[in-house]
Parts: sequence; structure tokens; C-alpha cells
Amino acid sequence: MVLKAVVSVVVLVGVVVIPAFTSSNSGDLTRPQPREWPCPIETDFYPCVCTNNENYELSIDCSAVETDQDLSDAFYYAEFPFSHFKEFKIEHDPNDPKMTLTTLDPYTFRTLTFERITISGTKIEIIQDEDFSNSHDTLTYLNLASNKITYFPFDSIQGYTNLQTLSLDDNQIEVWPNFESDSLEYLSFSGNEGITLTDFTNTPNLREIYMARNKHDTLPYQLFWNLFNLTVVDLQRNEMTFVDEYYIASQSNALTTINLDHNKISVIRHDAFHGLLPDAEVSMKNNSVVDLDEDSWSHLLDQLVPTGTLDLAGNPLRCGCEIDWIMFSPKQIDLSIFTDTTTCISGNQLIFLDVQYFCDRCVPNNCSTT
Ligand SMILES: *[C@@H]1O[C@H](CO)[C@@H](O)[C@H](O)[C@H]1NC(C)=O
Ligand SMILES: *[C@@H]1O[C@H](CO)[C@@H](O)[C@H](O)[C@H]1NC(C)=O
Ligand SMILES: *[C@@H]1O[C@H](CO)[C@@H](O)[C@H](O)[C@H]1NC(C)=O
Repeated sequence: MVLKAVVSVVVLVGVVVIPAFTSSNSGDLTRPQPREWPCPIETDFYPCVCTNNENYELSIDCSAVETDQDLSDAFYYAEFPFSHFKEFKIEHDPNDPKMTLTTLDPYTFRTLTFERITISGTKIEIIQDEDFSNSHDTLTYLNLASNKITYFPFDSIQGYTNLQTLSLDDNQIEVWPNFESDSLEYLSFSGNEGITLTDFTNTPNLREIYMARNKHDTLPYQLFWNLFNLTVVDLQRNEMTFVDEYYIASQSNALTTINLDHNKISVIRHDAFHGLLPDAEVSMKNNSVVDLDEDSWSHLLDQLVPTGTLDLAGNPLRCGCEIDWIMFSPKQIDLSIFTDTTTCISGNQLIFLDVQYFCDRCVPNNCSTT
């Protein structure tokens, strides 16, 4: 705080500015300075940086803030000619011990409004209801990934009437409540290990949901069923051993991308998947699937044939008579959806298996008609 005052005085009396910067902040000489209208005077706002672009959009980057005090000082001393900003950013390296930002003060941002906020890699544990409240009408994107967040004010989300994207990846949130938002479309809360799910019925406009690395072993029944715009579900690197009835099911009938890679899935149920688009991609790499028996898998294949994709690379597939129904499908059409990386436990690529082996060994067959 004292340093900042000294720097300001130096600027005022017109003494050479550069040495003052050098002493307080080595390495910043390459920045054009001082920066002024439409931004605050740069020395007042230090170490935050305000920039404007060719579209007259103003942005703030406070990644150089190390402590809570740094942040509140920067905003306390700066005068803002304009109060609306396209973007606010603090991006810290979570492994840098110098970075000790732990708190956001609801008054820090004063009357400033933002469209996009990214705060990541900090030590912040609690997000308070009012932290971004001046941005109720403006905020479209809130990314709070890789902090230490245990408490997030989900009940206040409904107040952000234009919020489309919310990311809380890699925090320590324990419960994902059924909070309300009519605007939210992209939701990501991967990497919150052990998080408990309720459902998504009060966020009806979701298009994409990312919930990887959460240690989910089961999902609530019909979790995605009432999401009429859902297209993408990412459940990779969880601990699921089976895909139960209606796990991946949406009345959107518009599912395009389902990622179940790196789980422990050995079994899927007949009605596990509903609402896939014909060209959808279902990825189940590195799971434990042995048998592609017809009762369980035909409903999934029926939705994907002939333009969809099923990736079963890295599964110990047996590829005996239990898959003859795939080999004997008309013109072997069912085979067309498998990736060329999908191999049997023997190492053979599924799509290049010779149907004649199945004709000779599996009964009944109708190979004579081919
Ligand atoms: C789905 O998206 C369309 C526009 O693509 C929108 O009109 C509709 O309100 C959205 N939500 C639901 C629940 O269908
Ligand atoms: C396969 O998934 C397991 C978790 O089920 C993970 O530990 C392992 O690293 C993955 N293997 C590969 C090759 O990605
Ligand atoms: C084998 O029989 C099934 C029905 O029994 C039929 O749908 C299919 O087209 C036949 N496959 C071949 C290769 O003729």
C-alpha cells in the first residue's frame, strides 16, 4: 500500500516513472505504460491490468495479485471511467506457494459489472452469495475451476439471468444440489471427488454436462431424462461398473457425445441408453467389457447403426459366438459402428473378423443365404 502511494506521487510530479516501476516490480518494463482512459491509471490499479481491445471491450487481469490484500488494494485505489467489463480474470498456478489468495470480498468489485469471470488456481474455499452480485444481469460465463471451493452459493444462481456456462471443476464440493437456473446450458463439475448428486430437473436448458473424475460408481435413476436439450455427457474416469437402465437417457433425443472412458464397466442393461442421435459417438475406452451379448447391447447398437460410433478400445472383448448376432447382421452393418481400435482380447480388430468362422461354429446361422 505504501509503495503504491509512492509510485503515484512520482507519476504526479513527473519524475521518471520507469525506475519507480523497476524497484517495485521488476520485469514489467516491456508493458506499455502508463495505461489510462478508458482504463484506470495503471499505477493505481497495480498489480491488476486493464486492457481494451479493438471492439472497445474492457478486460481486467488480476493474475499478478498474490494476496487478499493485493486484490482489495488494487480495486480500492483505482478510479474506473467505465464500470462494465467483458472479462475479469485471476489465473494462478495452484502449486505456486507465493499465491495465497483465500477470500473474495463481496465489496471488492464495487459497482463493476462483468460478462465473463475466471478465477482459478487460488486457495479460495468459500464463494459468498454477493461476490459477483453486481453482475446479475451481465454474467454469461463463470469459471471457478481448480480452487479449493467447499461452499458455493447455488441458490443465488437463479439471480444470474444470463448465465450460460458454469465450471466448478477440481474443487471440493460435496453435494450438487438441484438448484434453479433457466439460462444455464454448459455445466462442468469434474474433479469433485465423492460429490453427491440429486438431479438436474431445475436446470432444464442444459446442453452439455461434464462430470468426470468424481468417483461416481452409480447415478440416480433417470438423471438426465428431463433435459430436453441435452447433447453431451462426460462421465470419464469415474468408478462405474455397470450402466443401469436409463442411466444415459434423455427425452432430448439429441445425444451426440457420450464419454464413459476409463471406468470399470463390464455390463450395460438393455435400456441403459436412450435418445442417441444416429451419428452419436459413444466412447467406452478402457473399461472391462467381456461379452457383447445381444440382450444387453442390441438396443445401443440399433440407435447407432449405421452412422454412429462405438469405441470399445481397451476392453477384454471375448469375440466368440456371443457376438454372432453382430457378425450376422445384414451386410454386417452392425460392425460399421465400431472403431478400428476396438480389439478382441486376442488383439484382432473387431471390424476385420472373418464372418466365416462364425458361420462354421455358431448355431443357428443363416450364412448360406449370403
Ligand atoms: C431448448 O433449446 C431451444 C432452442 O434451441 C429453446 O427454444 C428451448 O427453450 C430449450 N429448452 C427446452 C427445455 O426445450
Ligand atoms: C484405465 O482406467 C483406469 C481407471 O479405471 C486407470 O487407472 C488407467 O490409468 C486407465 N488406463 C489407461 C491406459 O488409460
Ligand atoms: C439373417 O437372418 C436375419 C433374421 O433372421 C436377417 O435379418 C438377416 O438379414 C440375415 N442375414 C443375412 C446375412 O442374410
